[in-house]
Amino acid sequence: MKSIYLVGFMGSGKTSIATYLQSALKWSVQDTDQMIEEHYQMNIPTIFKEKGEETFREYETNILHMTNDQNTIVATGGGIIEKEVNRKWLQSNGTVVFLQTSWEEIERRLRDDVSRPIWNNQSRDKQQLLEKRLPKYLEVADYVIDTDGKNVEAIAAEILSKINV
Ligand code: S3P
Repeated sequence: MKSIYLVGFMGSGKTSIATYLQSALKWSVQDTDQMIEEHYQMNIPTIFKEKGEETFREYETNILHMTNDQNTIVATGGGIIEKEVNRKWLQSNGTVVFLQTSWEEIERRLRDDVSRPIWNNQSRDKQQLLEKRLPKYLEVADYVIDTDGKNVEAIAAEILSKINV
């Protein structure tokens, strides 16, 4: 079966839901952020600091093309949908699930986060970024799951019932 690509803003729960689905489906799991760090031997904050966001986006596209497009749950980075080439790739190669999360919930979940360069960049308006990205998530999504107020088990069960695997 086609792989499941989880897309959504930072803090939407992609990584924890991928891990949960992995044990439910007995599929393998991949995480594009983790793959970038392994492949380029640099952590994400360092890539942003030393190479800049544009280079990070190039790395992200290269890595997306290296993901397994069969029987794998792929947790993607929140900005994967920024590039049209990525959106096209996702639409033709995977079953795409958009984890939709409200701004209020994202803010609550990421309150103490220090690991995400965009989240921690004080000069960026993250709420505006979420609004700007929303149509792009919707454009690639085969399924939209509202995650607000739900735990990982409930979200995973909803995904499984919709995609029917
Ligand atoms: C980013 C989200 C991050 C990571 C990078 C950029 C973004 O992934 O790819 O820091 O542009 O939204 P998560 O969505 O897993 O936090």
